[in-house]
Amino acid sequence: MLFKQQAWLRQKLLVLGSLAVGSLLYLVARVGSLDRLQPICPIEGRFGARNQADFPLRALQFKRGLLHEFRKGNASKEQVHLHDLVQQLPKAIIIGVRKGGTRALLEMLNLHPAVVKASQEIHFFDNDENYAKGIEWYRKKMPFSYPQQITIEKSPAYFITEEVPERIYKMNSSIKLLIIVREPTTRAVSDYTQVLEGKERKNKTYYKFEKLAIDPNTCEVNTKYKAVRTSIYTKHLERWLKYFPIEQFHIVDGDRLITEPLPELQLVEKFLNLPPRISQYNLYFNATRGFYCLRFNIIFNKCLAGSKGRIHPEVDPFVITKLRKFFHPFNQKFYQITGRTLNWP
Ligand code: A3P
Repeated sequence: MLFKQQAWLRQKLLVLGSLAVGSLLYLVARVGSLDRLQPICPIEGRFGARNQADFPLRALQFKRGLLHEFRKGNASKEQVHLHDLVQQLPKAIIIGVRKGGTRALLEMLNLHPAVVKASQEIHFFDNDENYAKGIEWYRKKMPFSYPQQITIEKSPAYFITEEVPERIYKMNSSIKLLIIVREPTTRAVSDYTQVLEGKERKNKTYYKFEKLAIDPNTCEVNTKYKAVRTSIYTKHLERWLKYFPIEQFHIVDGDRLITEPLPELQLVEKFLNLPPRISQYNLYFNATRGFYCLRFNIIFNKCLAGSKGRIHPEVDPFVITKLRKFFHPFNQKFYQITGRTLNWP
């Protein structure tokens, strides 16, 4: 009897042992194959080429982990120096548009090993008080990065703020500017939804979208309403064009970034002269959220915060049609100036 029990126990241990060894072998193989997905290669043709030819991307990826520690602010001056880390002014800025998908774009670009994002909106160029603190203040707000990487920040208020183009031009006249747009009426409703949520959080009441978007005296579109004005993309872009040539802008289709992010990101990689490194592996559709989420590696995934992808209130179809008609000529002009035609109604 005892002998039988011992044999049974031995058999069980053997099965468990082989399972553990099997899993370990699988993990090692998986990590190995992931490495192969991102072959070692130099970063070609990035801005202001500087020692970049011999900096392997995989090393940058590995160092991302270290960067994370530095970002938390625990790094001593010696450690920063030892790892050759710097705080660099951005080489590209996502200047808008609010509710266009600016956060998703920044987070997705940050999947690229040569990109480091400024996590917070810095509001340096649109806020007079911040701007008065000077460019060194701005630089110190940037995350630590390796000199071969590029820093990107996003502050959507830049797109619509009068003074910003000149201020950015004074910092760097050859900077790359990213604008992510959505169908203007949808964007306006999204903008309204964000404000409405803020009011509700404070137990305040708020007008219906229809009441804000349509002037009750004239029954015409209310161009004084900020959510409407922000969606007249061409008006804002024209101000920027007084300082920067159109080649320095790249238009991202925010509606397509929601449904099919990879091709949009590949266009941005090209615009930024980065080697294509973001792949389908890095993006997976999360049915519960109804959006694509980010996969950095086998361990680390993340979806955007719940404040991204809100449910919009229902809007009177008459108002929607009126707004779409209103935006139509501005959209045509926007396509003409940018050379990017979007299929907006
Ligand atoms: P809605 O909340 O109206 O759906 P911004 O970051 O500029 O504020 O833009 C927010 C919008 O980003 C959201 O608007 C959402 O539709 C869009 N978005 C794009 N890709 C997303 C993603 N992967 N996850 C969540 N939201 C995303």
